Amino acid sequence: MLSVVEEVSAVREAVARARKSDKTIAFVPTMGALHAGHSKLVECARGECGFVVVSIFVNPTQFGPSEDFARYPRALSDDCLVCERAKADLVFTPRVETIYPHTSAGAYVEVPALSATLEGASRPGHFRGVATVVLKLLEIVRPDRLYLGEKDYQQLLVVRRMVEEFQVSVEVRSVPTVREPDGLAMSSRNRYLDADQRQAARVLSRALAQARESVRSGEKDADRIRQVLRAAIQCERLATLDYAEVADAATLEPLKELGGGSRAVALLAVRIGGTRLIDNAVLTE
Ligand code: PAF
Repeated sequence: MLSVVEEVSAVREAVARARKSDKTIAFVPTMGALHAGHSKLVECARGECGFVVVSIFVNPTQFGPSEDFARYPRALSDDCLVCERAKADLVFTPRVETIYPHTSAGAYVEVPALSATLEGASRPGHFRGVATVVLKLLEIVRPDRLYLGEKDYQQLLVVRRMVEEFQVSVEVRSVPTVREPDGLAMSSRNRYLDADQRQAARVLSRALAQARESVRSGEKDADRIRQVLRAAIQCERLATLDYAEVADAATLEPLKELGGGSRAVALLAVRIGGTRLIDNAVLTE
């Protein structure tokens, strides 16, 4: 039976009870507006752990002043149904004052090594907000395993690095991106798209597929692969490119050439109307 709690003490008590019965604790942090990508995270957690906690918290500190914090979709009862179907045990829905008891600027965690580029460059302060809230939530839940999606690739690296740097005792598990049948990566922000924009949004996965195809055909020059990505995005009239990068999959340093021992990842951020979407694909193993 799914429980939904707001208080830190209630989470700690439920987790303590689960631990007493020797259950492994899984944690899936979310901002709600749950979709099949989130279900997959919860299902993976369920498959591997005895007790699954999902947090639903629209974290104000990871939104810039002109971003969509106020209109970010909030749908708690639908979200609880998704959690129930995916067999979560506990949903934690803290209030803002619980997570930020003094002010939202009370204390921050930064991971500068991985936060300056890409999403971090386009959204200053974003990863500081993400790292801060994830550390706070980890401290409340104290799980054995943390489940994050690969769609937010840079976020995954930032959180992994934070966990390493602070020696947080949790194993970070990443779960592949879930896609719509036409390739669009599942995202809560897909809800903002009207019908034409929804069609146009297919351009992200199409561009990544073309980049992968050029690598399969032997292309190794990272600039030429960036050009493949840019050209694909430019073909879509409703799309405006924010960035198209080919980077080292571990450090996010821009690559000159593929091969040479490091994995390469292509990362895209594209605006479709007022909606900013991101996606990525690993190009070489
Ligand atoms: O990926 C998200 O939904 C958020 O960035 C996270 C990890 C829940 C932190 O607010």
